Amino acid sequence: MTSCILLTGGAGFIGSHTHIALTAAGHKVVILDDFSNAQHSVPARLEQITGQPVTVIDADVRDADALAKVFATHTIDAVVHFAARKAVGESMAVPLDYFDVNINGLITLLRAMDRAGCRRLVFSSSATVYGVPDEAPTPETAPFRAMNPYGQTKITGEQMLGWLQASNPEWAVGVLRYFNPAGAHGSALIGEDPRDIPNNLMPYVAKVALGQLPRVMVFGNDYDTPDGTGVRDYIHVEDLARGHVLSLEKLLSTGQGHVVNLGTGRGYSVLEVIAAYQRASNRDLPHVITDRRPGDVPIYVARADKAAEVLGFRTEKGLDEMCASLWKWVSNMADGA
Ligand code: UD1
Repeated sequence: MTSCILLTGGAGFIGSHTHIALTAAGHKVVILDDFSNAQHSVPARLEQITGQPVTVIDADVRDADALAKVFATHTIDAVVHFAARKAVGESMAVPLDYFDVNINGLITLLRAMDRAGCRRLVFSSSATVYGVPDEAPTPETAPFRAMNPYGQTKITGEQMLGWLQASNPEWAVGVLRYFNPAGAHGSALIGEDPRDIPNNLMPYVAKVALGQLPRVMVFGNDYDTPDGTGVRDYIHVEDLARGHVLSLEKLLSTGQGHVVNLGTGRGYSVLEVIAAYQRASNRDLPHVITDRRPGDVPIYVARADKAAEVLGFRTEKGLDEMCASLWKWVSNMADGA
């Protein structure tokens, strides 16, 4: 069945890939984005990839009037809410900005949805809600542990959504806890914006391969992991996007909410990522071991069986494909695409 889905933050990294996946699955999509962390070129690129016109509303998710207008103009069946701030370090410096965008933004959206009678929502959460988990792979039943204001906003968001569903069974929310999104679309037309100096490993490694940064700093090699470096569950952004389609379709067909991890269930160390990227780019990647980064966790790996059971979700792309697609995208951008 064709549905009309509103994507807040739909021009961003995960949102834009989800737009493509939803369109391919036959859904209509409306994007609401304020382009605070997205390129203005994204909608045209989405048109190029999907071959269909893209509807974009340039507005902040905290703008209640803009949201009311969206729901008055379009018959929205469900919302995928990506619009949020997501940098851990920045959230420590400006927590109120994070509470404002991530919490007030969510409340503003939920009020607009409630008024319009649209009560199907997919919420972008994060493995960060587990803080330093006691077990890896980490199941969805692991306790919440806020380590920083960003993580707090995801925990608070999930809890608010739980209470909302308890208050009115017409609400159905799919909470998706992402592990480490990586890679780019196979077309090399969209991906994570590589312009700033990245904090995260994958985009940083990409800049080193391009010769734009001198070397990768490996943050510690004395963790209790097979090679001593941090282990993460990297998930291809195209797999992640497909997870959103499955979550939405589940909400729309059953009216039942769910909370699931989206990861592969398999971890890779920093050194394994560097080696994989070296293979993908065919470039030498100088790297040095430095001190641990404060606040880092040794291992983050998803227990992936609940998403398989509840949504039928299984990842299809591995680390080599993540590195190859990222390399293709950043090379394309470096060539001025
Ligand atoms: C980080 C955030 C997390 C957020 C996620 C989004 C922190 C502490 N956590 O996760 O909340 O949801 O990004 O993708 O910021 N590393 C290096 N050198 C680098 C960069 C990273 O060795 O230059 C290592 C880290 O120590 C870690 C691994 O690479 O072991 C992955 O780091 P990163 O890509 O920053 O992701 P997370 O820290 O897992």
